[in-house]
Parts: sequence; C-alpha cells; structure tokens
Amino acid sequence: MAPGRPVTPRKVCLGKIGDLGDELAAVDIFGCPTQNALHGTARQQPDPTTYITTMQNTQSTQLLFELSKPGCQAVQMPACDVPPKPVSTLLPAEAVSDEPLPLPELSEPDVVRHFVNLSTRNVSVDTHFYPLGSCTMKYNPKRNERLCALPGMADLHPYQPESTIQGMLYLLHQGQHILAEIGGLPAVSLQPAAGAHGEMTGLLVAAAYFRDIGQKRTTVLIPDAAHGTNPASAAMAGFKTLPVKSTEDGFVDIDDLASKLNNETAVFMITNPNTLGLFERRMGQIAEMVHKVGALVYLDGANMNAILGVARPGDFGANIMHFNPHKTFSGPHGGGGPGAGPIAVAEKLAPYLPSPIVVKDGRGYHLDYNRPKSIGRVRSFFGSVGVLVRMYCYIRSHGPEGLRRIAEDAILNANYLLSQLKDTLPVPHGDRCMHEFVASAATLKSQRGVAAMDIAKRLVDYGFHAPTVYFPLIVHEAMMIEPTETESKETLDTFAAAMKQIVAEPAEVLHNAPQSTPIVRPDEVLAARKPVLRWKAEK
Ligand SMILES: Cc1ncc(COP(=O)(O)O)c(C=O)c1O
Repeated sequence: MAPGRPVTPRKVCLGKIGDLGDELAAVDIFGCPTQNALHGTARQQPDPTTYITTMQNTQSTQLLFELSKPGCQAVQMPACDVPPKPVSTLLPAEAVSDEPLPLPELSEPDVVRHFVNLSTRNVSVDTHFYPLGSCTMKYNPKRNERLCALPGMADLHPYQPESTIQGMLYLLHQGQHILAEIGGLPAVSLQPAAGAHGEMTGLLVAAAYFRDIGQKRTTVLIPDAAHGTNPASAAMAGFKTLPVKSTEDGFVDIDDLASKLNNETAVFMITNPNTLGLFERRMGQIAEMVHKVGALVYLDGANMNAILGVARPGDFGANIMHFNPHKTFSGPHGGGGPGAGPIAVAEKLAPYLPSPIVVKDGRGYHLDYNRPKSIGRVRSFFGSVGVLVRMYCYIRSHGPEGLRRIAEDAILNANYLLSQLKDTLPVPHGDRCMHEFVASAATLKSQRGVAAMDIAKRLVDYGFHAPTVYFPLIVHEAMMIEPTETESKETLDTFAAAMKQIVAEPAEVLHNAPQSTPIVRPDEVLAARKPVLRWKAEK
C-alpha cells in the first residue's frame, strides 16, 4: 500500500454482552471498542495519520472467517497424476458432505500474520519483563524445550514395557534423587501436577501418617501471609485450618503460633522465604515448637528460587515440602498445564508417598507399586514427564554451583530493584529482601486516589507485565515485585524509571489505563463473571 493512502477502518462486531444489554458495535482501527464498551473507559481516538503505521499491529483483530475471500488459497496443489475417482466411491455416503464446508479461504501471508499477530496480543516472559511476585516468571532456556521434545523423550508411551524405557526411568530416578538433595528430605514423589496439588498430596501423606500411628490430628496452622492455595489444599485434604498472625515486621508471630499449637495440630504450613520476600529468622525455633507437640512442618517451596543451593528445607526443620518446577526449574508456566509439583518428605513419611516410585535394583530401573501404606495415585502414570525432563535438564545444566548462583542473582536483582523503588513506593517490610519484595500503594491511594491496580494497568502501556497486586493480603494495596535472576540491570533500570514516571502521572491517566491494548480498561468483575465469548452478535 502506498504511504499516505487512507485506510478504511475495519468494523468488527463484538456482539452483545448478554443480558447486560450493552451493544458493542463498532470498534476502531485498533480493534478497540470506541465507547464505553466492555464496561470500560472510552479509548482515545487515534490520530488518522497514524492509521497506516498502526494497521500492522491489528491484523489479528478480525477472525479468519471475516478475513476470508472466496477463491483465496494458501497452497497450490500440483495436478493429480493418478486417475481421479469420485469421492463417493472412496468414502461411505454418511461421511460425505453435500456442500463444501464453510472454511475460511485465505492466502498464506494472511494466515501467518493472523496467527503471529494473535500470538503477540498477550504479554509473555518471552516478550516482556514479567515481575509477577511469587510466580518467579524467569526466562526459561529454550534448550530444555528442545531436549524434552526429542523423540526418545516425547514419543514414549507410559504402557511400554519397563525394559524399553530404562533411559526415562533413569532420568526420573535421578530427578527424585536430585530433588531429595536440594530439599534435604530423602524421599520424593514426582507425581503431583502443580504446586497446589503437591500441597494437597503432602497433606494427604501427613494425614495417612497420623492415621497409621493412631493419632487424631485435625488442624493445619497457616500464617496469614500464606498463598491462598495453602488453606485450600488443607481443606481438600480434610483438615480444619487456623490462621497464624504475622508480626509488624512480617514474620510469624511466635506467641500466636504457640497459643494455637496443641495435640490436635497436624501440620504447620510455612512459606520460607515468605510471601513478603523475607527469610523467617526464627525458623529453627518454630520447627522445634511444632515438633514438640508432635506435629509436622510443611514447607511451601514456591520460593525455592531464593535459597537453591544455599539452604535446604529439610535442614531447617521441614518434614514435607513441594517444589514448583514452573517457578524454579524452567517448567512452562500457565496455559492450563500440564504442570508438576513434586514433593519431598522425611524418612518416616516415605511409606505414604503416592505410588509408583521409581526404584533401582541390580536389573535396572523399575516402577514400584508394591507400597501398601501409600496414599495411592494422585496423577496418572508417573506425573507430567515432559515438565520433569525440563526440570532435570535445567538442574543438570546449572550444576550445584549454578543453582546457588541462581539464588544469589535472584536476591541481588530484587535488592537492586528494591533500592531503586523504595522512595517511589514504600516497602513496608524493610530495606532488604530475598528474591522479591512487596511495595504498597496505600499512601498513594489515600492521598491521590491511585490504587495498586491503576499502576499495574498503566505498566502495560509502558511495555511491562504488572507485578502481582493485592497479595499478600496483609499489605494494603500490595505490589509484589519479583524480578528474577534472568533480567539485566538495564531492564531493571527501565522498569524502575517507568514506575517513577507512572507514579508522577495524573490520577485520571492511571484510572483509564491501559490505553495501548486491544481492549481498554474493562470492568474486571463483569469481564470475569459475564465474559463475551461469542464472535458474532446474537440475533
Ligand atoms: C507461595 C505459593 N504457594 C503455592 C503456590 C501454588 O502453586 P501452583 O500455582 O503451582 O499450584 C503458589 C503459586 O503461585 C505460590 O506463589
């Protein structure tokens, strides 16, 4: 297209928002609702002179069906060099359609641009800095993706005879061994499918243990700073939960813990470093108190990135822990899985681990199902093997020194960013942190009406994924920032500069952010509760 030639804005009908009755008729050239659509704020109209240059980014706005042009083809088939036969002689009548299927007809560039542009509609760790606290969104080396896709890994079938999967069983056996070493707890199950699933599995193991030794223990104690999955997993495993307060400075309130520990306590679940990014100073004392009443310590290992090769949960008192390979060991994040959440436990809990466990004898590697005290399976076969292969490759390629370096660099980066930001947004729990820190927009909110959510939304306009907001619950207007070890100083500086600039912007700009995205600020409750999933308006 010649430069300067006007482009007609495309119209895309987004349909109606169900019973809300809001018409989402026209969208602008950016594919964005022009007015108050999606219950959001009006988007500023773009300058018509920018249409041509911005069109490239909007190629995915229209659906393939809408882009379709009759007769358009992505492939040209060579002339058939065998005598053609009528389809009816090749397929049963019920398999033959009377009419051609209404499939979109497009050229190859149209298809490629559609999908490539669509793929850039989301923010990802491969495209953006992603300081999502607690989630450890570090860059994952692509090498591990390639390795786990090798045919010898990806094409195995779990029903193959053991003798034909010795390589994989070796890898899983090694995986068990390595996690036991990193966690300082000798027995490992690779089966659980996510961190939260690991939590539930670990707690089921605890329940089986107490049942087996004839103790009726009903309660799991959980600090009020904990991730929401902790109480949820405890409830799923059949326990009552009781919160334990945090002190002003963000650690477990020892007096509160002492007042709640008794012979009904089964487990104290602790995240260390905790969700404020602080290493629990009195961990030894806490573990001693818990063990004294006959209860177990569960370590939520979501924050292992901060202590890899530096401290081992088993050494500081944990009896059970889970790992989150998608946070710590280059497992893929999100997308609905499959994930992995291996657990490691103390010797006395080993008999209750899920079956099977990979074992080795003089003849090779085997899956051991003969485990009479096991809680049984929690996942099909031996877990999400693709994720476990990535984990294994990641750990082996870093080696012990490399793992320690990961933790050190993660802590260095977080402290650097903390030092850059603490005068812009207060960090209520100290001048130093482990791998993440929690800033607060509470003052900004009370003085200027700017909330953590407004800053998070505006960051998207600046090209960053937002930090975690409103968690942990004990910090008002929390912004939980975890830069991870894979980011450069330049990226951290740019992020800090963006944060400073955003905080200085007028409140109304922040209230209307983001403005650069396909859909401007939606009403989040309605968007979640009544999502518009149709692509055509209902007649
Ligand atoms: C502290 C903490 N615990 C547990 C979990 C649950 O892990 P998963 O998302 O793998 O289920 C998370 C997840 O973000 C977390 O941050």
